[in-house]
Amino acid sequence: MRWRNWRHLNHLLPTRYEAALHFSSALVNGTPGILVWTKETLLATTACQMTDAWLVSHFSTLSRLLGDLLNNRINMHLKVPKEASIMKVLVTGGAGRLGSKVVKELTETGYSVRIMSRKRQQPTNLLSATEWAQADLETGQGIADAVAGIDVVVHAASSPFKHTRQIDVDGTRLLLEQARVAGVAHVIYISIVGIDRILYYYYRAKLAAEELVKDSGIPWSILRATQFHYLVDLFFQAATKVPLVTLLPTDLLSQSIAESEVASRLCEIAVAGPGGRLPDLGGPEVLTAGQMARTWLMLRGMHRRVLPLHLPGEVAQGFRRGYNTCPDQPVRGHIKYQGTQNERR
Ligand SMILES: NC(=O)c1ccc[n+]([C@@H]2O[C@H](COP(=O)([O-])OP(=O)(O)OC[C@H]3O[C@@H](n4cnc5c(N)ncnc54)[C@H](OP(=O)(O)O)[C@@H]3O)[C@@H](O)[C@H]2O)c1
Repeated sequence: MRWRNWRHLNHLLPTRYEAALHFSSALVNGTPGILVWTKETLLATTACQMTDAWLVSHFSTLSRLLGDLLNNRINMHLKVPKEASIMKVLVTGGAGRLGSKVVKELTETGYSVRIMSRKRQQPTNLLSATEWAQADLETGQGIADAVAGIDVVVHAASSPFKHTRQIDVDGTRLLLEQARVAGVAHVIYISIVGIDRILYYYYRAKLAAEELVKDSGIPWSILRATQFHYLVDLFFQAATKVPLVTLLPTDLLSQSIAESEVASRLCEIAVAGPGGRLPDLGGPEVLTAGQMARTWLMLRGMHRRVLPLHLPGEVAQGFRRGYNTCPDQPVRGHIKYQGTQNERR
């Protein structure tokens, strides 16, 4: 396995294992060598000459070598001993919009990934390097097998429109119970910005699921993200079903984000380890639905009048006030809403 980034390695390997890094560097007498690495120690040897005296005499060389490793100036090849294993991640909803991108990124980073889905078989468009576990959060079927041998769970399965309470709340409880039994070391939950301020039934379920994660006894991370670009697309697709005009609640606010950027953040969280409630993540700009609709129509060459529709009720009021946005967070996504064309799976 060729290694692009030293920092990836630091988090990929569970603490209980050692890894041998074979490196070819002219620094150590021009001889290919082996680095034996654990979280606590870093030792080096050329061939089998690893003695204290050798380490002392090569101290300055090793210091330079370490500097190069840390600055990614030399390439390494990782050889994991038979008894060791790369950290294993379960992605619930791993065949979904966000989940499939998380799976791709984790796999490319070098993690061993298992997808959890209700479907029996892995679709052909997914990476063949992944494992597949059939499980249903609503019935509990298959969950114990899905979490067996797993180090980290990225929980991205959800059902906003059907049996939400059973799947998002009761199903999350079942998942966490089984994950605890299986000795999972980190559970990462993807949530939504503003769920504590907007009284939408789906958001209440997400909030309840967050509480379950916090109380699970498993070290956890929770990331709240804003709406994904693709969801805005779906919204406009529905609004343009009627001919000639587009009737829209033009004053609702959104800071939508590319799901690929949320997926990258989730991978960083898997690398970093449990972090609790993390800073919210939103897209690059806060726009009104009216502004986004004009972009959407323009991209599709559609010429229509956009007519404002006033939505009554507290939920709409929450979106008008921008409770679903997080413009004050220092880190945001970079891909603007019109980039959504590139986000297709
Ligand atoms: N969409 C957004 O704008 C947005 C914004 C912020 C946060 N989020 C959060 O991000 C997560 C993923 O969202 P997404 O838009 O990528 O959703 P998605 O594409 O609909 O994926 C959700 C996945 O959940 C799985 N699922 C549904 N019911 C299940 C059940 N009973 N048992 C097991 N798995 C089940 C489905 O997998 P199978 O069909 O393969 O079983 C589905 O692929 C959700 O937690 C959501 O709340 C979404």
